[in-house]
Amino acid sequence: MTKKNVIAIDGPVAAGKSIIGQYVATRLGFRYFDTGVIYRSVAWIVHRQNIDESDKLQIELVAAQMSLDLDTSNTNAVIVNGVIVSDELKTQEVTRLSSIVAALPGVRNSMTSLQRNIIDREDVVMVGRDIGSIIAPDAVLKIYLTASVESRARRRFGDLSDQGLDISFSQVLQETISRDERDSSRTDSPLVIPHDAISIDNSEMTIEETVDVILEHYRI
Ligand code: C5P
Repeated sequence: MTKKNVIAIDGPVAAGKSIIGQYVATRLGFRYFDTGVIYRSVAWIVHRQNIDESDKLQIELVAAQMSLDLDTSNTNAVIVNGVIVSDELKTQEVTRLSSIVAALPGVRNSMTSLQRNIIDREDVVMVGRDIGSIIAPDAVLKIYLTASVESRARRRFGDLSDQGLDISFSQVLQETISRDERDSSRTDSPLVIPHDAISIDNSEMTIEETVDVILEHYRI
């Protein structure tokens, strides 16, 4: 079996990884896979089943038993334990819980093979926090995408306001800082800049400009 190409895009909250990753994948004819969805799915189950967020063993158990399929008729939906979910994964509570469950080694362990199966099957643009460092250390291109915390919080605030959420900018800024802090300080697979990654700060760049820079690096 020929080795598949992986483009790893890692970075902090709201750096634009998803939209930029989708454009890069479309331009190259690669599959796009957002690994945040899998941690959000675990968080969604924890929330739905009212599991105490400090009950590590129970959370690791639901992660180990979780079944996750992509709904091929709708790119934004996934099927978690047989239930089709999409917007449910983006609520404030699921977002907050996702970085808590993602810090548990047992949860990350269960999710590793799922991600590696995708990498083995097809060319993919995979976005997340530990793709270049842990999941696909042999990726043909590793991008670390970031932007100032203010611009990232501003983008997220815009998204949440568009969804009709009544939330203040300072609340969004605080949540962004807390989530960054949890993702970077956890012991297992923290968010790091892989030594062989290209760092791009897109605070002052458009989506199209960022996509073009990534594609230029891919072609080198
Ligand atoms: O990227 P997104 O915001 O959807 O990710 C949700 C949460 O999942 C992040 O805050 C992070 O804690 C976790 N995550 C992770 N590793 C990944 C992708 C996401 O820990 N590869």
